[in-house]
Amino acid sequence: MPDTQTSSARSSMVKSDTSASRSAIVRRVEPGDWQILRRVRLRMLADAPSAFITTLDQAEAHPDSVWVERAQIGSRGDDQGTYLGLAGDDPVAMGIGLRRDQRGTDVLVIVSVFVAGPWRGTGLAVDLMSEIEHWGMAWGAPVSSLWVAESNDRARVFYDRCGYSPTGDRTRMGRGSERWEIRLEKRLAD
Ligand SMILES: CC(C)(COP(=O)(O)OP(=O)(O)OC[C@H]1O[C@@H](n2cnc3c(N)ncnc32)[C@H](O)[C@@H]1OP(=O)(O)O)[C@@H](O)C(=O)NCCC(=O)NCCS
Repeated sequence: MPDTQTSSARSSMVKSDTSASRSAIVRRVEPGDWQILRRVRLRMLADAPSAFITTLDQAEAHPDSVWVERAQIGSRGDDQGTYLGLAGDDPVAMGIGLRRDQRGTDVLVIVSVFVAGPWRGTGLAVDLMSEIEHWGMAWGAPVSSLWVAESNDRARVFYDRCGYSPTGDRTRMGRGSERWEIRLEKRLAD
């Protein structure tokens, strides 16, 4: 099990089995983290293009101001919580929680979940999900919801292990796409 650190901002730490001398922490993005956010986002889209709708080209075309704004929005408040996995200065994971109104109820929607190859299977992804879910529970989210590509077997096994179940919702990954995604859900509170 990962070691857990307690601080005023929740954060956790895991060690990579593949590089035992290194460890990674999960923490919320800070306003000045825009370059780190851009780095991990571009890494994610280069590494796992089939898992996401946004393309690397689209993300690379964003001006700095977009990343600055995203880091600011994700760093505070209850509308968006952006979380980073950091091995020292190296951003090795990310995930975003969004507060979304669904039929009059605020639900947590988790998007852009990514863990870099060497850190997969280390528990870092579990810590990342846990941090985002705690952020959602702090503002009272009763449910956490996310979409995953139907063909993404690894992510589906992972989310199943995290307690997420298929809702039956299924849609194309973008207009006219041959790729499909399904929606999973997990209850956070009764
Ligand atoms: C999805 C992701 C965050 C999960 O993190 P992870 O560290 O790889 O997850 P874990 O290793 O803890 O769990 C994955 C499980 O899938 C299993 N698995 C690996 N490859 C698999 C495959 N091809 N088919 C089925 N299961 C597979 C693993 O054995 C593991 O199961 P276990 O815990 O029972 O051993 C990470 O793989 C990732 O970033 N992938 C690329 C981006 C992505 O797909 N993001 C999700 C977008 S919705």
